[in-house]
Amino acid sequence: MFLFNTLFENVPLPLLVTDEKGAIIFANRGVSRVSGYTLEDLSSLALSDLCAPYERGRFLFAHLSQIKETTEIDIDFQRKNGKFFMAHLSFSPFHYSGRSLLFLVLRDVTRRRVQEGKKREDEERYRKLLEEKNRLEEQLQRSRKLAALGELSAGVAHEINNPLAVITEEAGWLQDLLNRPEWKSLPALADFQDSLREILQQTKRCREITYNLLRLGRPLDMQVQEVNLRGLIEEVVEQKVRETQEQSIKIQAEIDPNLPAILSDAILLRQVFLNFLNNAVDALAEEGRITVKAGLSPAGRVEVAISDTGSGIAPENLPRIFDPFFTTKSPGKGTGLGLSLSHTILERLGGSVSVRSRLGQGATFTIQLPAGEKGAIADAPQNSDC
Ligand SMILES: Nc1ncnc2c1ncn2[C@@H]1O[C@H](COP(=O)(O)OP(=O)(O)OP(=O)(O)O)[C@@H](O)[C@H]1O
Ligand SMILES: [Mg+2]
Repeated sequence: MFLFNTLFENVPLPLLVTDEKGAIIFANRGVSRVSGYTLEDLSSLALSDLCAPYERGRFLFAHLSQIKETTEIDIDFQRKNGKFFMAHLSFSPFHYSGRSLLFLVLRDVTRRRVQEGKKREDEERYRKLLEEKNRLEEQLQRSRKLAALGELSAGVAHEINNPLAVITEEAGWLQDLLNRPEWKSLPALADFQDSLREILQQTKRCREITYNLLRLGRPLDMQVQEVNLRGLIEEVVEQKVRETQEQSIKIQAEIDPNLPAILSDAILLRQVFLNFLNNAVDALAEEGRITVKAGLSPAGRVEVAISDTGSGIAPENLPRIFDPFFTTKSPGKGTGLGLSLSHTILERLGGSVSVRSRLGQGATFTIQLPAGEKGAIADAPQNSDC
């Protein structure tokens, strides 16, 4: 017995024996060392007195008598000097002289926990860096692809533009001709006129497409000045609210009151916001919610996120949505140029765009723009694009 007493008292591991109410019957020097209480103090304390005040109401302390097998918990302790430490406690029930007692082993795990916490923080920081790296790489690849496609498209558009202009002019001339009095008696005059109207309408559409294609591949005509982003977003949102009032669509703007004015091109930005909002409205198909949130990112850039509760984007389509002519809309409804043009414009304005979406769960397009500092906008030649 003497050997066991000596061992119990002197082993460096903190060991305790309590009764089934938690009153301390024995505590060794290890407990005294970690808790700061003397062995005499300890003999008149209960286990819960060693714990941090917020741990004392633990369910386990009220049910110690029900512990039937070794049980382990993590718990915060408080030293006599008021300082806290994290402990791992294991309770083992045993019987002695007809009494039910508990044998407890206590380990200070503060350092391990702090290291684990730090490791988790490092991992989190690494994950965020990796995400940012992937985002930038994706952006770079997209920009390269768009630059190549943009150049090709602009070349084709340029070639098509001239014959298209001739067709439009000739069709207009024919239309004028058919309006002359001497043609009034021409059989099927109305059919001719309808047909010409259709030709003119379709050539107008083709000219819009070639105009956009030329903008993809050529420097944009930019008018950089101070832009009141808040006013611009509110105006665009109001316009969309008016256009969709027949549908059950809720569009709202949440703009950080500290949003600074930025140096940019208001007309181009307006076109970009409208493109994103048009897509969001199309994705909703009659009902749902669109939110435009604007504020400053942690890196101090202006961030505008346009979210919708619409159809979302299939994973296989996500890498293609910024490609010129990629569209899932029916012919005549979408040309597939909105996003590629918006991407190009944003890039020339020194900004970027990223997307998050899951099929059936809406989409969020996040635009980032430089927060007003001069020189942030790419040095694009200030030429006219058409
Ligand atoms: N908010 C969104 N929700 C779901 N899908 C979207 C959203 N925005 C874009 N898309 C997908 O990306 C495709 C390409 O969009 P983009 O704006 O480039 O072309 P479009 O809207 O089809 O035609 P356009 O803008 O030229 O009229 C869309 O057809 C659609 O499939
Ligand atoms: Mg679109």
